[in-house]
Amino acid sequence: MPIVGTGHLELTAVNAGYLERSGFFARRQREFPVCHDIHLTMERGKTLGLVGESGSGKTTLGRAILGLASVFSGTIRYHPPEGPAIELQNLNQARWRPLRKKLQIIFQDPFSTLNPRLSIESILSEGMRVHFPDQSQPERQEKMRSTLDLVGLSADVLSRYPHEFSGGQRQRISIARALILDPEFIVADECVSALDVSIQAQIINLLLDLQDRLGLTYLFISHDLAVVKHLSHEIAVMQEGRIVEKGSVEKITATPEHPYTRELLEANLAPAI
Ligand SMILES: Nc1ncnc2c1ncn2[C@@H]1O[C@H](COP(=O)(O)OP(=O)(O)O)[C@@H](O)[C@H]1O
Ligand SMILES: [Mg+2]
Repeated sequence: MPIVGTGHLELTAVNAGYLERSGFFARRQREFPVCHDIHLTMERGKTLGLVGESGSGKTTLGRAILGLASVFSGTIRYHPPEGPAIELQNLNQARWRPLRKKLQIIFQDPFSTLNPRLSIESILSEGMRVHFPDQSQPERQEKMRSTLDLVGLSADVLSRYPHEFSGGQRQRISIARALILDPEFIVADECVSALDVSIQAQIINLLLDLQDRLGLTYLFISHDLAVVKHLSHEIAVMQEGRIVEKGSVEKITATPEHPYTRELLEANLAPAI
């Protein structure tokens, strides 16, 4: 059973962004900072919602945790269920490899992240082949079936292709692709933002159900505070690359302290256009 109440991922004074090539023949690399002095703790089995307007640096922070954007300073400490903590910032590719399956990402757009030329079976088995090379074919088949079942899809989707599915179903397939590797931590980056409101609710309920069953920890990223508050335990508000306010959902939504948080709340109260 997951241990509840222990810091699972801890970010301390993290500065992160991108490296840009500059200078003659692009020989030099210049730091392009996006996220500044980030302190966050993600509790095991809980959801931290990260909210802020477009361009505030949310995706960059999610990517930095997973080694997909540069960390210039600070520490990102991951506590596995067993064994010592691991500092993720600036791990090289070889040291990341065994951790990849544990720390996964689900993106906004299931249209562009599912390869249209691959069957669902190929999409799901790709990661298993890399991360569990010793699994037998029947074991893989069984894992695909049970994982599809978890996300509410039947095994007959395996022979089909991404274009045959609706946006919501594709997002279920993306979630299955992450789950099949038995992750502990998932960055869900605007993962319902491209979906109709009724489908958003289904996917959010699925994420909640999976968290209950599997003890997953989520960093749930969205520009939409109304969505974030549905499934978060804690919320961090990001503006221009900084966390300007953080706290429980109740605190952030009932007694926001920062003017920017109030702005986000008011934007949510405005009627949808
Ligand atoms: N690959 C990249 N290289 C350089 N800059 C980037 C890259 N991706 C995003 N940025 C910049 O980082 C800033 C924050 O973007 P992003 O993290 O995507 O924000 P959000 O997810 O909150 O919309 C923006 O100014 C954006 O232009
Ligand atoms: Mg983003």
